Amino acid sequence: MRVDRGALGRRFARLVTTAVVGRPALWALFRGPLRRQFEGLAPTWDSRRTPGGLAPLDAALEAVSPPPARVLDLGTGTGTAALAIAARWPQVEVIGVDLAAAMVEEARRKTPPALAARVRFERGDAARLAHADGTFDLVVLANMIPFFDELARVIAPGGAAVFSSSLGAATPIAVPQERLRAELGRRGFAQFATFSAGSGTALLARKVTSA
Ligand SMILES: C[S@@+](CC[C@H](N)C(=O)[O-])C[C@H]1O[C@@H](n2cnc3c(N)ncnc32)[C@H](O)[C@@H]1O
Repeated sequence: MRVDRGALGRRFARLVTTAVVGRPALWALFRGPLRRQFEGLAPTWDSRRTPGGLAPLDAALEAVSPPPARVLDLGTGTGTAALAIAARWPQVEVIGVDLAAAMVEEARRKTPPALAARVRFERGDAARLAHADGTFDLVVLANMIPFFDELARVIAPGGAAVFSSSLGAATPIAVPQERLRAELGRRGFAQFATFSAGSGTALLARKVTSA
């Protein structure tokens, strides 16, 4: 019997997302296996990405005003969203963080010289970021597991967060928007806006107070 490793990997990513959003402490159990999964996917990640998968993120970014000065792309993968954000706003500085070293290497390799002064890629864990409170005025998560306490901590008051899913609810790593709103609402976020574009969806939220 042939094993469909891609399908198994997607099911595992969905299971980890559901488990960790419900009980963040479970991340300690899943961190190693999920990192190894994405280390293995890095060389072919760009060929696996959903064509037009950035459309919902782009739609949400259109609504971000004023332009942010410092942006964090959590779970940046090969850096596609981080590089698109740097190209969109000519003054912005962008940091892309990923758990998998091979993803970070690939993102650095893809960075065009014209953007290299404003985009940096780091290996790191979104559950425990090395950045100070309120460092960013926009945090982006494209097809990425949210760690709500940490992302709320590093966003400055008045800053924003965008969550995008390339295939909407069918994305392996996706959290229902009602759940996102509830978790964010508890942490001082409001002014929610929903977007649909291509086959995906996105949510934009503004941090109005410190929780
Ligand atoms: C489904 S991929 C999405 C990559 C990219 N955002 C995109 O849309 O193409 C999820 C990425 O998040 C990374 N990741 C998962 N958990 C993470 C964590 N706790 N901290 C940082 N990166 C993480 C994985 O290594 C992987 O590169």
